[in-house]
Amino acid sequence: MPTIKAQGQVFECAVGANLRQVLLQQGIALHNDRSQIINCRGLGTCGTCAVQIEGAVSPPNWRDQTRRSLPPHSLAQNRRLACQTQVLGDIEVTKFDGFWGQSDRQRWAP
Ligand code: FES
Repeated sequence: MPTIKAQGQVFECAVGANLRQVLLQQGIALHNDRSQIINCRGLGTCGTCAVQIEGAVSPPNWRDQTRRSLPPHSLAQNRRLACQTQVLGDIEVTKFDGFWGQSDRQRWAP
């Protein structure tokens, strides 16, 4: 089973698990501030679940790429939408500041 490191926690999930669901189930603060309430619930449209991932995950799908191509996100940033990402191996997750997690300032580390 893949190991996930996020916000100081270490836990496991099934191969292919949805990263947003796994993080929320673990109590990780995936959505910053008011985006905890105002988000698309995993449809891939709001962009507030953006994180940086090191490790084995599914390739970006068209929803992920499309939303991250729009401001305030940028495809030049090394981010992914957790709700559109399946965990395939051990990963480390970093969250950044801002309503959409778009800032360059780290909110929490693996
Ligand atoms: S929760 Fe809205 S894009 Fe992921």
